Order: sequence, then C-alpha cells, then structure tokens
Amino acid sequence: MSSTREKLIELLASQANTFVSGQWLSNQLQLSRTAVWKQIKQLEADGYRFQAVPNKGYRLIETPKKVSENTLFWGLSTKWLGKVIDHYEEISSTQIIASQHAQSGGQEGLVVVAEKQTAGKGRLNRAWDSNHHNGVWLSFILRPNLIPSHAPQLTLLTATVLARTIEKLTGVKPSIKWPNDILLNDRKIAGILTEMQAEQDAIHHVIIGIGININHKESDFDASIMKRATSLALETDKQYDKRVFIQTLLELFEGQYEAFLSHGFTPVKASWESYAYRFCDVVHYKAGKERAKGKIIGIASDGALMIEDALGNTKHLHSAEIDW
Ligand code: BTN
Repeated sequence: MSSTREKLIELLASQANTFVSGQWLSNQLQLSRTAVWKQIKQLEADGYRFQAVPNKGYRLIETPKKVSENTLFWGLSTKWLGKVIDHYEEISSTQIIASQHAQSGGQEGLVVVAEKQTAGKGRLNRAWDSNHHNGVWLSFILRPNLIPSHAPQLTLLTATVLARTIEKLTGVKPSIKWPNDILLNDRKIAGILTEMQAEQDAIHHVIIGIGININHKESDFDASIMKRATSLALETDKQYDKRVFIQTLLELFEGQYEAFLSHGFTPVKASWESYAYRFCDVVHYKAGKERAKGKIIGIASDGALMIEDALGNTKHLHSAEIDW
C-alpha cells in the first residue's frame, strides 16, 4: 500500500460496518479534514458509496463492481497473496508482466490482473483467447521452498483451488481434465499455465497463470474454440462479479497452498481425484507409439495420470493423448 487513497481504503476496510470519524481518518493519514473529505469525494466518483452521518463520520457501504487495485484490495482477507496487486485495463499477458516482476525481486504473492490480454499465453505455446473483458486473467508469484521436480504439484493444487472456487460461487461441481483443464458440463471453462525459473535443486520462482471464462456470451469465443469452451454465465445463466471471484480464488489458494507446504501432497491428490474428469472410467490413449486403454485410477505426485490396464498393472502417463 503506498498512496493516500490506498491507505484510506485500507483504513475503511479495517473498520468495515462501523462509522469512522473524519478526525480519526485525518490523524491516521496525517492529512487535514478537508483533504480527507476530498479523497472521500474522489472515491465516490469512482463508485464507492458511503453513509455520512454528522458527529459519527463515514461508513463504507458499497464498493464498485469494477476491478481495480483498490476494489480488489477491499474485502480481501488474505495474509500475503494479493497484498501487492498490479492491475491493467489491457496488457500483452499477465504472465509476462508477473515474470518481469519476479525477475526484478517482486515478492511472493504479487498478483498481476488484466481486464484484457492482447497476447494471452496458453500451454504448449498456444494462444489464450483473452482479448475481452469478460474473463478473469491473472498471474501471481510464488517462491516455494520445494525441489524443482515437485513444481507440477503446484499446478495440481491450483486446479483443485480453481475447481473449489467455481463450485463455491456457482454451486455447480466442475471437473479437472488431466493434465489441468477445468471443465463444466464437458466444456473448458478455465486453464492454468505454470512457469518456473529454477536451478538444479532450488526454485527461484514460479508464476501461476490462471484464465477463467466468467461472463462470456457465445459470441465472445473465437470460432475455433466455440464448441469446446464455455463460461460460468453460459452454464449457470447468471452474471458474476469478477472482483468477488478473484478474491475468493486468492483466499482459497492461500489457505490450500499453506496447507500443502505444511502437510504435503496427499490431501491435494485426494482433492484432485475428487474432481477428476472420468475418474474410474476406461479411456483409450496414445503414449509415444503405444496405443492402449485403461481405467483412470488417480494422479501421481509428479503429475502423471495413473491408469490401470485389464491385468491390474498400473501405468504412469506423463504425456499422452487421451481419447476423451
Ligand atoms: C491453458 O492452455 O489451458 C492455460 C491457459 C492460461 C491462461 C492464463 S490467462 C492469465 C495468464 N496470462 C496468460 O497469458 N496466460 C495465463
């Protein structure tokens, strides 16, 4: 938090649902009462609504729906994730900006959010369709004390957090399609891109990039993905507040990430499997030159999909084309 405006929002947030006097705000911010009043007027112009009562002061009753650093900060109950937010109306890719921040010493938990991305990045060097404001496009920095070979566990963890967030806000249970697509009613609703900078035995940083189709109409999708993609709005016939989605996601992530660092991968595995697409179904797949079929029985700690063949042997698929 740096600017006066941000400090004012922080103070009002810390006193949620109670009146704070102009004098108290002026003491805290070391500003005159008039300067505080001007700041409050500017917040009102941006869509914040206050109840002002003589001799009692101000009470914040509504924050704007618009996503910004300030509105995201308001009501966010995390300890470290999202305490620094870099928000853009339009940017090439939040992944690129987050990675620049990480290389210049950006702290763990720094989040980059964009309303639109002109060069959104997907997995396997694919483009990610995000040049419109109806989705949530964000990336954040982690600096975990893990060995690099455990980094794929962070992607699996993120998939479970995304699934939980969607379930919490929509009441509909999504599935996680290996390796890390989030589906609602068999169509892709969200994707995760994990990028890491590491030495042989230590991670410098990991950038977790998350894209979720929130309020898209069908016409918002590129023709090439229209049949395979969907949004929360299309699946549930409701519009969602992107700010609330981001805050819920960050709050759930922080808790689950800390639990993972303390208790290890086993609970993440269980959660992933509880959302797994076609769990216990028999699928056909191609791995290298081999074509085979087997039952999906789980996820391994390195991110491999575990398949059981007809003889009861378990195979670990690290890269395969699954005939879903
Ligand atoms: C996938 O291919 O499924 C992963 C898509 C990841 C997209 C997100 S949107 C926010 C962040 N910035 C990017 O450029 N990509 C990720």
